[in-house]
Amino acid sequence: MVFDLMVRDVKLPDGTDTDIAITGTKIAAVEPGIKTEAKNTFSFEGCLVTTPFVDPHFHMDATLSQGIPRVNESGTLLEGIALWGELKKILTHEAVKQRALEYCDWAVSMGLLAIRTHVDVCDDRLLAVEALKEVQREVSPYLDLQLVAFPQDGFYRSRKAKKNMIRALDKGVDVVGGIPHFERTMDEGRRSVTELCGIAAERGLPVDMHCDETDDPNSRHIEHLAYETQKLGLGGRVTGSHLTSMHSMDNCYVSKLLPLIAEAGVSVISNPLINITIQGRHDTYPKRRGLTRVPEMLDHGICVGWGQDCVLDPWYSLGSADMLDVAYMGIHVAQMTSPAEMHKCFEMVTTENAKIMELEDYGLAPGKRASFVILDAAGPVDAIRLRADRLMVVSNGKIVAKREKTLTKLDLPDRPITVERKRK
Ligand code: FE2
Repeated sequence: MVFDLMVRDVKLPDGTDTDIAITGTKIAAVEPGIKTEAKNTFSFEGCLVTTPFVDPHFHMDATLSQGIPRVNESGTLLEGIALWGELKKILTHEAVKQRALEYCDWAVSMGLLAIRTHVDVCDDRLLAVEALKEVQREVSPYLDLQLVAFPQDGFYRSRKAKKNMIRALDKGVDVVGGIPHFERTMDEGRRSVTELCGIAAERGLPVDMHCDETDDPNSRHIEHLAYETQKLGLGGRVTGSHLTSMHSMDNCYVSKLLPLIAEAGVSVISNPLINITIQGRHDTYPKRRGLTRVPEMLDHGICVGWGQDCVLDPWYSLGSADMLDVAYMGIHVAQMTSPAEMHKCFEMVTTENAKIMELEDYGLAPGKRASFVILDAAGPVDAIRLRADRLMVVSNGKIVAKREKTLTKLDLPDRPITVERKRK
């Protein structure tokens, strides 16, 4: 027997040296010194191999639209929402699809092979839903795209959001979204959580809500989301995204809240690039960071992932589909700088996010999907430090991206050298 593809001399995230052999779309073997040959073999001098990067929180209907019809001058969440309202009116099916496909190309080049994107269902045309369903089908051979029905303007606050949410789910949107802190009152927010979880339970769908994305410590919808999750037996299928109000909550209240989230089996996504730029905008000095309490939630055994949220859109003028940027920012803002915490941050853009998205056959082991990324780095922390080059990206047994090592030639007095890499 001859394998289809072999990568030799790579290092797993735990530091183990190995080769990886692939047959068809599956991993056939993960062990050092595999004797059997393959039709195609590549050797990587001890570079890091990882499962693909996963982004569980994104807005693909808005991405790469920066400047249309104008830029966000203040950089605030509220101007972003207003700007999205202006853009929504002039969206076309073709433009949304073209920008989304371009972003998916960027993602593949960065080894990002699974994305959960929210899609606004407050537009009666459901134009973005249709466009992203087409994108989902087209990229499915190499990229897992999940769609969340997201009532951006409020499930109750926007007049037709409820009806459109049902229409979107009928069209095959995968996940039920929500935005309780944006409803008219705390009570309406709470009722939206109840109704949306009920819809998800009835249809057997996961839930992923923008929840408490505010600096107001009294925004406590995560408590009710945990309650409904437990009541309906949805544990492991419900995610609270952002949870930034938790940053400003009373410590005594949080000491009760975190065990409740853990008991309910609710996962959490924090979006450090966005939250560090958008939160704390009402503060003078000192300014709050606004990020949710990530290390404390991890200590309680809660599944926490890092999300990208936005790239070049009404809310965020930067970004490049690089989940290592997200982990890098997360480490800094959450002050997760111990070796173990930094390693955890790498898992939070790979394996932890895969759990949140319930990805099947994700892993570097025989029988799993042959999808992985080889980075010009010595290990996970090194990869984050360097935002390392992705030398090869393999999806379902096929090489979908390749990149040469970056070489820099220094021309200094009496020291003509070439810096091959900065791996440590
Ligand atoms: Fe978001």
